[in-house]
Amino acid sequence: MEVYLDNAATTKVSKPVYEAMKPYFKSSFGNPSSLHNKGIPMRKTINTSKKKIASLLHCAPTELYFTSCGTEATNWALKGLALSPSIKGEIITTRIEHHATTHTVEFLEKLGYIIHYVDVDNDGFIDLFQLEELINNNTLVVSIIYANNEIGTVQNIEKISEICRAHSTYLHVDAVQAITHIPLNLTELQVDLMSISGHKFHAPKGIGLLYIKEGTHIENLIHGGQQENERRAGTENVPYIVGITKAFEEGMKVVEDYNDRLNQFANEILDALKNEEIDFLLNGPKIGENRLPGNLNISFEEIDGSDIIFYLNKAGIYVSSGSACNSEMIEPSHVLKEINVPKDYINGSIRVSIGQFTTHIEITYFIKTLINIIKKLK
Ligand SMILES: Cc1ncc(COP(=O)(O)O)c(C=O)c1O
Repeated sequence: MEVYLDNAATTKVSKPVYEAMKPYFKSSFGNPSSLHNKGIPMRKTINTSKKKIASLLHCAPTELYFTSCGTEATNWALKGLALSPSIKGEIITTRIEHHATTHTVEFLEKLGYIIHYVDVDNDGFIDLFQLEELINNNTLVVSIIYANNEIGTVQNIEKISEICRAHSTYLHVDAVQAITHIPLNLTELQVDLMSISGHKFHAPKGIGLLYIKEGTHIENLIHGGQQENERRAGTENVPYIVGITKAFEEGMKVVEDYNDRLNQFANEILDALKNEEIDFLLNGPKIGENRLPGNLNISFEEIDGSDIIFYLNKAGIYVSSGSACNSEMIEPSHVLKEINVPKDYINGSIRVSIGQFTTHIEITYFIKTLINIIKKLK
């Protein structure tokens, strides 16, 4: 049996998405910029796709720009603002962002920007009072991860947005893990820039989106042709645009059910560990409304997370570790360090990310296998 519980890393392309994309690799292959019967329908497909996604996100189609991935969207948002004529020189973010953000702001720091990091508490929630203190007339942008990819913390973006608007500061939100996993309405949220990635919700890898709210002035990063309203050059990836659109439509249909079902699975796993009197810590918030559904980040005392992954893998179960490999050694992740996971536990961390297609049989097999492995390693 194979059990894929690494959906925060990537998801499989769903059947409806695959079926929707297929014709665009074969008969419908034209270049959307071509002014003939192979090209014109492709331009129409792109426009229709944007309309469909915009209606699901509650924004205007002209506010959506296709990119190659979430990382590109975040690079464009932050570097695009930094290169704009604005004279503001400070950026506020956290130390629990994805590297797409942290490494981009580190690059901007080299260009002279001052980077401030807002503290987070032990569940990963940002200190809103400190944000109010740090934000000032020189703050160009606040960049915050909506739902944390490692520990599942879902930030209070409404409140963060209020603070940013009160100070006329741009807000960029990395919503890569949030899209189709928690309800999201851009008219209500009031953010200026939002990064999205298709492969986290059953579209293929290699397609993302940047939402740029009307009136937000950012420079272009990719120069060339006139694609994407002259904002992002490069021949459009029509099959993947069709794929991400279908994934949006499918994902938004099940978002409520997704929440309840995945939280039930997560609770079942935690209850089983407790019933077996296995000592563990749940990193991040309690299962419920402020935690990404299906995300479980668990640490075991004095066990090596990579051993757990090794034995799970042997049993056909795929999860992530709470560590990052650099060239010399395995380091606990920057997120787990930042939320102060105790040192006896931090190296024994695994991230289990349940997905839309995970079944109860798979969860039962995972629970049984994990308990056996932990007992063996103790
Ligand atoms: C929160 C978050 N932001 C950004 C990214 C980067 O997205 P992509 O893989 O599409 O570049 C990821 C991917 O893991 C992520 O989880």
